Amino acid sequence: MNIEEMAAFCKRKGFVYPAAEIYGGLAGFFDYGPLGVELKNNIKSAWWKTHVHNRTDVAGIDGSIITNPQVWVASGHVANFSDLMLTTKKSKTKVRADQFIEDQLKVPADGMSAEEINNLVKEHKLKLNGEDFEEVKDFNLMFETNVGPVSGSSAYLRPETAQSIFPNFRLVQENARMKLPFGIAQIGKAFRNEISPRDFLFRCREFEQMELEYFVHPNEVNKCPYINEVKDVKVQYVSAYMQEKDEKEKSGTIAELLKQNIITSEWQAYWLATEHEWFANLGANMKKFRLRQHVSTEKSHYAVDTWDLEYNFPFGWKELQGIANRGDYDLKQHQETSKKELSYFDQESKEKVLPHVVAEPSQGVDRAFLVFLFDAYDDKDKRGFTVLKLHRTLAPYKVAVFPLLSNKPELVKKATEVFETLRDQTTVFFDKTGAIGRRYARQDEIGTPLGITIDFDTLEDGTVTIRDRDTTKQVRAKIDDLQMIVMKYLQGASFDEIL
Ligand code: GAP
Repeated sequence: MNIEEMAAFCKRKGFVYPAAEIYGGLAGFFDYGPLGVELKNNIKSAWWKTHVHNRTDVAGIDGSIITNPQVWVASGHVANFSDLMLTTKKSKTKVRADQFIEDQLKVPADGMSAEEINNLVKEHKLKLNGEDFEEVKDFNLMFETNVGPVSGSSAYLRPETAQSIFPNFRLVQENARMKLPFGIAQIGKAFRNEISPRDFLFRCREFEQMELEYFVHPNEVNKCPYINEVKDVKVQYVSAYMQEKDEKEKSGTIAELLKQNIITSEWQAYWLATEHEWFANLGANMKKFRLRQHVSTEKSHYAVDTWDLEYNFPFGWKELQGIANRGDYDLKQHQETSKKELSYFDQESKEKVLPHVVAEPSQGVDRAFLVFLFDAYDDKDKRGFTVLKLHRTLAPYKVAVFPLLSNKPELVKKATEVFETLRDQTTVFFDKTGAIGRRYARQDEIGTPLGITIDFDTLEDGTVTIRDRDTTKQVRAKIDDLQMIVMKYLQGASFDEIL
């Protein structure tokens, strides 16, 4: 399935639409439909549970989208957050330069300088629709706006959630009584005025991020006390050195990668493995994942070292999540610009230190959404229609309830009672229209793991049929046991174990 087919599927089933499509949409903006909003919320809840609620060393925040513009001066975004843009001489059509070069010449162009791009355009006589290009220019990706009825009061829509975390570092550390090492996490909207948004949700202008800044003592940047928890995690990887040598990805355990100095920081290795396993535990196809180290030309202005978690999309290996070691760049910058101290008082040494962000797992919600859909989509099942094999944690609806016949009020009444029994426990879809086979198919296509059918026997003996989406296996159970059965299933029991 290619990305256009995925976009069509998402629209047809109510996952995602082009924004305000009746007006022709707006490039790079999307509206999530009834199923999309559920799936997206489930992805965010699963991330928050793993990264915040299940840990004692991470606290969460929810920062504002527009903040004091000095934040973006300090972070370097005002000066550096730009992409190179090529503009045609006559029609002034604009394209993102690195993508254009990659598409035309099939060479990696991320991180190329303006000079390199200009040289390649000249050398290969590159044109767009027969038109020549002007010299390449920088284009800042931040959306600018005014605050209040005052022109010239410039502010920006945040291009990443990370920068709401650093200015609050001291407050969060004190309020949550955090001791190093600890993290601050956030989920929220980010906006980038991408020159060429494309590939559906992969590169949009409004998207969401799930980010975590993990702070450690400057003397402890290489020692991670949790490394043993992930040492056996097996990953595919391609280091910067392997890319220079044009080598393909290899696979190895985290322990092996550290031993061979392929990943040099235990902390970065720990977070790479943790993020890899987050996807694995939610049913992603891990054969399509790899860790890729940034080569020197593509590293961000703040990064000491960066590895991406990549996914093999239908348009090739692409960044799914970035995991940068940001050093003390951000706290230092915000401390210097605000003239407010952001250091941490180390009780043991009685010294003030500026912590380092050894890892910043930064995951786009919309890209994770795409990955889970691609991996769940199964049109090869012998049923003759698509089955969306989403992990139960992510499925928009966990249970569907069907009265066998919609024209029998006694069945509809009983099915409504079953719906009301379960709706406080989980998301339940009530469907009483159409032939039962068609209703099963509709739920399979949107990924509902369990179907419960109320038939004439139900009225006699109080039992219902429970159907498993993935195997179509059916079992009979008592209505009185349904809450317990659904609870067991949601807690991870297999279909065969629920009775
Ligand atoms: N704070 C670091 C940071 O923002 P990034 O690599 O620019 O790093 C992190 O972005 C993640 O945000 C990406 O790996 C991707 O998942 C998501 N992301 C970035 N730009 C995006 C866009 N235009 N559309 C959708 N997701 C995007």
